[in-house]
Amino acid sequence: MNKHPLAEVKQILQQSPAVNPHDFSPVSNDRVVHELSPSHHFEKMGVLILAGGQGTRLGFEGPKGCFELPLDEKKSLFQIHFERIRAKGPNLSVAIMTSPLNHEATLAYLQANDYFGLSSSQVDLYQQELIPMCDDHGYLFYEAPDKIAEAPAGNGKALFYLYQSPIWEKWRQKGVEYIQVVPVDNPLAEPFDGELLACHVENHLDLALKCIERVDPEEKLGVIVEKQGKLMIREYSEVSDAVRMGRSGEQLTYYLGNSGLFSCSMDYIERLVDGAFEMPWHLAHKKGKRLISTPDGWQAEEAWIWKFETFIFDIFPYADSYRVIVGDRKNCFAPLKNLSGPDSPEVVAEALKHVSLR
Ligand code: UD1
Repeated sequence: MNKHPLAEVKQILQQSPAVNPHDFSPVSNDRVVHELSPSHHFEKMGVLILAGGQGTRLGFEGPKGCFELPLDEKKSLFQIHFERIRAKGPNLSVAIMTSPLNHEATLAYLQANDYFGLSSSQVDLYQQELIPMCDDHGYLFYEAPDKIAEAPAGNGKALFYLYQSPIWEKWRQKGVEYIQVVPVDNPLAEPFDGELLACHVENHLDLALKCIERVDPEEKLGVIVEKQGKLMIREYSEVSDAVRMGRSGEQLTYYLGNSGLFSCSMDYIERLVDGAFEMPWHLAHKKGKRLISTPDGWQAEEAWIWKFETFIFDIFPYADSYRVIVGDRKNCFAPLKNLSGPDSPEVVAEALKHVSLR
């Protein structure tokens, strides 16, 4: 009996523990594109902004996209993304994935700001799911006296929720063929990226990934690897030291890092859905708060908790055809992650000063 193609890839992934560095190779040169002439059929593309995360490291109460950067004229991440989209053309297709924790606030913010010049009919929002967390003993716990603690379940299912939403059909009707994924926290991410689009239009690819060079092995960047010709990301929180720090001469052996910027064809996602693809789960062990019942009433205490997440790049190995574009960091990557230090508002604002955002 013929094996289903998705099952074959799953077998490759399971062949040996994913942490063994010898399984992986750096991405082969014939997959890496160094120069491209951008393509401009922007209406063939839909941009999906990932905005369902909690932005815990930033410690900002509202949706991360509403965070205002300390530029000469203060601008929020959403405003920067929307103004760049507007500059690319009229009525382009945009979707935003939120979570039940920030959906209403995101919608209210965009409405109050008239979608920063986009039309409300071209911007669609949909929500991802929350999932309960566990304590160190494997028990669910409370975050309020009448509420089990839950958190967003990672960005992994973003494209599948989009597929299940009415937006998918709407985009198909508009002639959209490719989806570009943009993490909300990176204002240097170019929406409707002509280079990513060119990869698809010229080569009919399932997947195009714009990555950046890794320079600091400690930077919180997923590492791009190949295993038997399949493209994969080993997340920074899970990668072995040998892959993360290995050097070939001066250069890091695995020299490409995940910027989070990629595009894929809608046909490819439909193939995954048809093949009953399931995202694997990743576990994160983090410090958090839980409520406990004491004789004096409910009290909050700090505790180690387990979060369950899926990662959007776990679809990558299933792409039959892909290219990796090496982007120039100063033009495409300045993510806002922390309140101070690296990837802080000041660092991001400084990076934005040196580029034209149109
Ligand atoms: C992410 C990448 C990492 C990459 C780095 C670059 C993942 C899993 N990891 O790591 O490989 O090198 O960015 O900056 O993508 N999000 C949701 N829902 C969720 C969780 C996250 O929509 O439940 C969104 C966030 O809002 C954000 C994006 O996904 O736009 C990335 O999430 P984040 O948690 O910031 O990822 P990193 O750990 O920085």
